[in-house]
Formats: sequence, C-alpha cells, structure tokens
Amino acid sequence: MSVTISQSPVERTTHSYAGSLYLLPSDEEERQRLLAQHQLYTRLFSGRLIFPPISFSEKDDVLDIGTGAGAWLCDARAQLPEPVQLYGIDIESRLFPKYPTISANVHLSICSSTSLPSYWSSKFTLVHQRLLIASYTRDQWRCTIDEIYRVLVPGGFAQLIEIGPEYPSGPKTARHILFLDEFLASRGMLMRCAVYVADMLKAAGFVDVMSEEVVMNMGKWAGEDGVQGKDATIGAWRGMRDSVMRAGGMGHYASAEEFDKTMDEISEEWDSTEGTHATVRVIYGRKPI
Ligand SMILES: C[S@@+](CC[C@H](N)C(=O)[O-])C[C@H]1O[C@@H](n2cnc3c(N)ncnc32)[C@H](O)[C@@H]1O
Repeated sequence: MSVTISQSPVERTTHSYAGSLYLLPSDEEERQRLLAQHQLYTRLFSGRLIFPPISFSEKDDVLDIGTGAGAWLCDARAQLPEPVQLYGIDIESRLFPKYPTISANVHLSICSSTSLPSYWSSKFTLVHQRLLIASYTRDQWRCTIDEIYRVLVPGGFAQLIEIGPEYPSGPKTARHILFLDEFLASRGMLMRCAVYVADMLKAAGFVDVMSEEVVMNMGKWAGEDGVQGKDATIGAWRGMRDSVMRAGGMGHYASAEEFDKTMDEISEEWDSTEGTHATVRVIYGRKPI
C-alpha cells in the first residue's frame, strides 16, 4: 500500500511594515514578476514611461512611489537629463535593485507614501506611482494623493498607472473577480481604483487631469505578449493567496491548494478564450502654479 502525504504550499515572504495592509509577497519570485511586467507595460504603452508634457531641466527631481524592483525608475533615468535626481520609496527594501543597476543619481529608501518626509515639500517635478491597487484603503488613497500634491513643485505632475477597470469575463475569472471585489472591500480597499483616481486627483486640487488606456491581452491565443499579460496578472493574483488564507478564505477558498488550483483553471480559461483582456489606465494631473 502506498501512502501519499500532501503538503500545504509553502508561505511566501511578505513585507513587515507596521500598519500596511499590502497583499502581495516581496520575494525573488515577485521581483522577477515585477521586472517582466514592467517590460510588458512599457511595450503596451509603446515605450512611453512619462506621459505628461514635461520638459525636464537639470535641477529637477523625480519620485517613484512603491518602486518595488525599481524597473520604472531605472528605465526612466535613461530618458532624463543626467543630473536629474530620481528617488524611489517603498515599504520593503527586499525588492530594490542592487548595485550596479542603480547609479549615483538614484536614491532608494524605506518609507510609506502616506507619510513622505516633511522636507520633501515642493521638491519633485514628477511623482510616478504604478500598481498600488493591493496596497491602500480608500483613506490611504486620499492621504497618498494629498502627499503627492504636497511634494510636487507648483506646476509639477502626478502620474498614476493602474490595472482596470476592465477585467476578463470568463465564468471562472468572473467568480474570482467577485471574490476579489469582496476581499479588498473587506479591508477598505478599492478593486476598481483605476476608475476613481482621476476624481481623487481633482478633489486634491490637481488640474488638467487626463487619462489614457491600453488593452492588455491575456492568454496563449494572443502570442508572446498574451502569455506575458497572463503571467503578470495571474502572478499577482497567485501572490495574494497567503493574505486570502490568513483571512480564512472568506468562505470562497477552503485551502491554499484550492486557491492555487483555481488560479490554474483561470489561467487555462484565458489561454483558451480568444479576446481575454484587461485594460491598463494611466492618469495624470498638474499641481497648479
Ligand atoms: C505591485 S508592486 C508595484 C511595483 C512597481 N511600482 C512596479 O510597477 O513595478 C507594489 C509596490 O508598492 C509597495 N507598497 C505598498 N504599500 C506601500 C506604501 N504605503 N508606500 C510605499 N510603497 C508601498 C509594495 O511593497 C510593492 O513593492
């Protein structure tokens, strides 16, 4: 008689920043996911990393909030005049790029967007923030946008990029999205933050608020970019597993194994359903002079 011993999946490493509700891990697998996702998003936006009409001068400073693996920051550096100083903050340093990828004009520190240094008031020409969807409560969104406003120079721009509001509609995906809506809402978070950012910017005092959107195809049917889109998105969803199970699965998932299996099934659904896509939205606005 053979006995099969099944082991629960190993929990992934997460941040330890006090008070943060951030749902995704901060391990090497996540770092690799972020780097690949950055390459894909850069292609989706035809190589554009900076969207507002800014002509940078040598004295300008740029801030990247939730910089993670610093991929946007390092690539944006190459598009800016050499003396521009780039700052990246994150609640977790484990994902930060290592020397020699970063250079003398790149400064990384551990800090929360909800409480930026007081001496950064009116410092930055551009503040960029991408994919903080699994980070903030509604109040933290408002607080972060107020902080961005404070640290921008008059005339400076905020630029935020978020996935959504369109998501795939296959039956297995739709069930999980309903779950995510409920799970994030139970923590006061906004699954559809892409819809709200423009209004939050206007409410904080930003003017000339603009949005642009691209379609991200997901699944093998869409070739290499479809596979990348699927891996980036399902990789983020898979990364939420431990947070979901710590919350008891919310009556939707009885075990980590069941969660993983559902992610496999959703992945197959995307591979086999032509037209599967999500949208990605960039929203930017100017602090008045
Ligand atoms: C999904 S990752 C995106 C990383 C990067 N912006 C990108 O697009 O590749 C979100 C990042 O935000 C960081 N984060 C979460 N809450 C934060 C906060 N309150 N302040 C600063 N960073 C935060 C996380 O640690 C993580 O590195």
